[in-house]
Amino acid sequence: MKGVLLHGGMGTRLRPLTYSGPKQLIPVANKPVSQYVLEDLIRTGICEISIILGETFPEFVKMHYGDGSKFGVHITYIYQGKPKGIAHAISLCKNFVGDDRFVVYLGDNLLQYGIEAYVKRFVKGDFDAFILLKDVEDPTIFGVAEFDEDGGLVRLVEKPRVPPSNFAVIGVYMFKPVVFDIIKDLKPSWRGEYEITDTIQLMLERGYKVGYDFVEGWWLDTGKKDDILYANALILDERIERRILGKVVNSKVIGRVFLDEGAKIVNSDIRGPCIIGKNCVIENSFIGPYTSIGDTSKVLNSSIEYSIILSEAVLEGVDRLEESLIGKHAKVIKSSKNRRVYKLNIGDYSEVII
Ligand code: TTP
Repeated sequence: MKGVLLHGGMGTRLRPLTYSGPKQLIPVANKPVSQYVLEDLIRTGICEISIILGETFPEFVKMHYGDGSKFGVHITYIYQGKPKGIAHAISLCKNFVGDDRFVVYLGDNLLQYGIEAYVKRFVKGDFDAFILLKDVEDPTIFGVAEFDEDGGLVRLVEKPRVPPSNFAVIGVYMFKPVVFDIIKDLKPSWRGEYEITDTIQLMLERGYKVGYDFVEGWWLDTGKKDDILYANALILDERIERRILGKVVNSKVIGRVFLDEGAKIVNSDIRGPCIIGKNCVIENSFIGPYTSIGDTSKVLNSSIEYSIILSEAVLEGVDRLEESLIGKHAKVIKSSKNRRVYKLNIGDYSEVII
């Protein structure tokens, strides 16, 4: 079994952060989203993994994952460039896959319990393809499954106006190499992409054995700011243990707080679950639950909760920051002069709510 991790796409919904890096490298609980995906593949026993690169800073992805040896696996890279669709990305993997079965995992999808159980079912059932379904509130924005009276999968419909069910196809797909013959016959959709739903649909029409399972636990697609913040909260809630490696001076540190090496907390209140990265300085501040602060950031005379701050950012004199996503090297500073003005120097597509 091999693994294919999709790291391409444009990430337009996560601008401006995707002007300076691919969205899948945005950290959740101080770890890139796509690293959770990689670790899930590894947990499943897969050690030959190919990462598909897009146009957005592919060199950062290579720098982070290297040849895979630091994760104990072998990673190779395939350059997709422009996002011509998930099926197009898969078509580039023919040589990498060879005669093996393989799992395709979108680099921005997170599953509470991982994929191991489903991969076992895919192999045991000797399916040609296997998809995962999740009941969602608004199926009209997804590829949706239609079942017959006996519960068999008959059709997939992309973004249906009248959904045949509430079950959306999520971003993990398993295949035998026969899928490459199917993708060859696909035509681009109205949006000009080679679609994964069309691929599965064609397999169903041609009588291939397509299996499915319903995902247990939460599933998140971290394509937008609010989804990233929510993922951050869930991961902090479930996976962060109390560990104080940094220094705490005259401060209250309550609950599951991970304070990394070299970080310093002075005259502050910290309430978990939260994570504070290496060499951070937190002074005269309140860090509330569900907050992740990247390495070497400073929070001074400020109050923050339910937010993600990337590395080397500065927050100073900010009374109450919530539901915020602050990029690398960004500064949010309250002017010490007593004039009630806002001075902004922010990038394209930034959002400031005051
Ligand atoms: P999307 O979230 O559908 O697309 P996107 O990343 O371009 O984001 P946006 O809509 O905000 O512009 O992509 C889903 C996942 O699949 C994501 O991890 C990127 C990846 N992908 C590729 O690697 N190649 C592709 O051609 C496409 C369409 C997506």
